Amino acid sequence: MMITSKLICADVIDGLRSLEDNSIDLIVTSPPYNVGKEYETDVSKEDYLLMANNSCREFKRVLKPDGRFAINVPFTMGSHSITRPVMYEWENAIIDAGLTIRDYVVWNQSNSGNDTAWGSWKSASCPWLRHQAEVLIVGYNEQWKKLHKGESSISPRDFMQWTIDVWTMPCARSKFHPAVYPEELPKRCIELFSYVGDTVCDPFVGSGTTMKVARDLKRNVVGIDRDRGYCDKIRQSNAFNQTTIDGSVEYVYEVL
Ligand SMILES: C[S@@+](CC[C@H](N)C(=O)[O-])C[C@H]1O[C@@H](n2cnc3c(N)ncnc32)[C@H](O)[C@@H]1O
Repeated sequence: MMITSKLICADVIDGLRSLEDNSIDLIVTSPPYNVGKEYETDVSKEDYLLMANNSCREFKRVLKPDGRFAINVPFTMGSHSITRPVMYEWENAIIDAGLTIRDYVVWNQSNSGNDTAWGSWKSASCPWLRHQAEVLIVGYNEQWKKLHKGESSISPRDFMQWTIDVWTMPCARSKFHPAVYPEELPKRCIELFSYVGDTVCDPFVGSGTTMKVARDLKRNVVGIDRDRGYCDKIRQSNAFNQTTIDGSVEYVYEVL
């Protein structure tokens, strides 16, 4: 089976606009949280919400009627000395775009509870919760049940475990990207929610984690990121390397 792995270096909206209507089976992604990471300019709350809203409108257009999404966000995020309800912001954008939320998966990041930002130590004055969990917002475009039968790649054991809505796995680290998710996260989404040969899109692809996993699972994949440095790194990595898999992958790179 011939599959295509396409990387688009562009702003999310331009990148998505370059895709055909009804062309994507599954969106798996982790958007920027607007907390001042090296890859995000400090945008206003209004501009961030506009980006989330416009992205979700494009998700609606590019997803097939039975297309699905799994969007990884934190419940809340502290920035500018206030806590923002990031999950709620994306839920609103998803619903406003006409997409439907079906489920949530709690990602128990078993290794991330070591920070010592307590707020007020041993006092009810102003304690801070130390985050050790994020969430996957899971949903669909028009209908959850797939319109066609296809080949699934998930094992019975993984299906039993991954259909439980708490996934425990440590955070990942990368030498060249400050906020990667572990390969296991997109792997579970892709195997649970798509068939072999389907088309997966990650519109905030970062270091290319989703592209590598989707390619290895024999899914077509489109990754978008506006950062030229990350795109160059992906092209040099084994997410974009002809030699890591037999010759049945076509790699495409576009700069918009
Ligand atoms: C949380 S990171 C994704 C990391 C990815 N899941 C991984 O494992 O490598 C979010 C990415 O979104 C990209 N990004 C931020 N704003 C963007 C925009 N407006 N358009 C396209 N990409 C954007 C950033 O460059 C960053 O790489």
